[in-house]
Amino acid sequence: MKRSAPKHEDLFVPLDLSRPLQDQIYERIRAAIVRGELTSGSQLPSTRALARGLRLSRTTTQLAYDQLQAEGYLSARPGSGTFIAAIAKEDRPAPRGVAAKTQCRLPTSRYAARVRRSRRRWAALTEPVPRQAIHFHPGVPDARLFPRMHWARLVSECARQTSGWSSAYPDVIGTPALRNVLAQRLTTTRGVRCSAEQIVIITGIHQGLGLVARAVADPGAVAVVEDPCYIGAAGVLDAEGLRIEHASVDDEGIDLRRVRASAARRARLVYVTPSHQFPTGAVMSYPRRRALLSWARTHGAVIFEEDYHAEFRFIGRPIEALHALDDAGLVVHAGTFAKSMSPALRVAYMVLPPALIEPIFHAKWLADFGSPALEQVALARFIERGDYARHVRRCRVTYFRRRQALMDALRQHLPAATCSGQDAGLHVLVHLPDVPQRATPSLLAEAAAQGVGVMSAHVFHVSPPRHAQLLLGYACLTESEIAEDIRRLALAVRVLGRK
Ligand SMILES: Cc1ncc(COP(=O)(O)O)c(C=O)c1O
Repeated sequence: MKRSAPKHEDLFVPLDLSRPLQDQIYERIRAAIVRGELTSGSQLPSTRALARGLRLSRTTTQLAYDQLQAEGYLSARPGSGTFIAAIAKEDRPAPRGVAAKTQCRLPTSRYAARVRRSRRRWAALTEPVPRQAIHFHPGVPDARLFPRMHWARLVSECARQTSGWSSAYPDVIGTPALRNVLAQRLTTTRGVRCSAEQIVIITGIHQGLGLVARAVADPGAVAVVEDPCYIGAAGVLDAEGLRIEHASVDDEGIDLRRVRASAARRARLVYVTPSHQFPTGAVMSYPRRRALLSWARTHGAVIFEEDYHAEFRFIGRPIEALHALDDAGLVVHAGTFAKSMSPALRVAYMVLPPALIEPIFHAKWLADFGSPALEQVALARFIERGDYARHVRRCRVTYFRRRQALMDALRQHLPAATCSGQDAGLHVLVHLPDVPQRATPSLLAEAAAQGVGVMSAHVFHVSPPRHAQLLLGYACLTESEIAEDIRRLALAVRVLGRK
């Protein structure tokens, strides 16, 4: 038996003239079905009658009905009219924007669990102080120093030309223009002798390390990572299913005794930060470099050299890359524009040993068909014209002043503190010998109460030191902000000492 058609006036007024009218008719009929107001078998007004009633064109109502019919909500019976299709109660769609009441349990992989574990470790970085309250962010450059107008002009200049980039898929391993200028620049600034064919442009260090891990090691294989280390890198290797062996770091960089030890001996991959160890800032000594290369050669391991702060060395000459000593093709040299330009650019690079060019090409192809081309072409031009070198020099001067302000304030307000890593990079590791490690959460809370959010370095350690260590990234603070924040931090240390 036919049920009566709903009054279209009730369903469709008022319509909003700023949005497509057919969409609104579609949405309202669909919502009425979802709510059970229009039940299976009920008849809808004809498209002509509805159009007349609503003073719309028939095309508008027809388009809405066609869409509902295509999605199975309506059925048209020639000669009789349009009806709500038979939809079982349990098959009724959920209202838009409302979460389903019963969530299905979906399968999750071990990979997902490993990634969650790594995110948890990352989240612990800013405990108990929330991320937005941290003043001394390590690893973030000052966005105010980004050459905004210049960059905008350059990107627009490149966008208007089709040479070097186009609307087709980009070169999988990066645009030739960027790879060419990088090959020249890395040879002169980092001692990395390489050809453009060895360079692959990636979205960031994480992507590069993941690609290399996949190309050289199967899940279950061993990877050696420094202790303390950049947890992002450890997280990438862990997510790839590698077994991580940590090797401690001293003033000369990674301790090879641990690398030579039982499990680490079978490592396929060693991740190191030789020019500025993260987070201690230790520079790997020449004998250690030689010994690491010789060990890797004997054991057939690949060394991933991360050169993340290469542009910002304040004392002495730049430290030559480990890659410069590699004559056996074992070192992957990786760097990023995240600190010298902007983390939002997502442009980084790797210099590959010849044997890895082909597997990494395939892995990058599978991952994303290549990184966005326009930014690469603009960056190549920025470097070629000398603008990048000028920009880096300008940033280095500013960061040097901020680093000086930090060192001066620490000397003045926290004379018992010792520092490491201050000769390069955008952060300093501050050791507080008078504050035991277990008191770190109280110290962070007290500092926050004094109005300064700081980050502990303990999450970077597998074997944490006995005293508190803070990682102070100073790049985004002015000199006066730094001085004031350190005064407050010192106050927090004193208050804690009295408790
Ligand atoms: C030591 C280190 N390496 C790598 C990265 C990430 O680099 P990218 O932005 O190129 O992925 C960071 C980010 O802070 C870092 O601190």
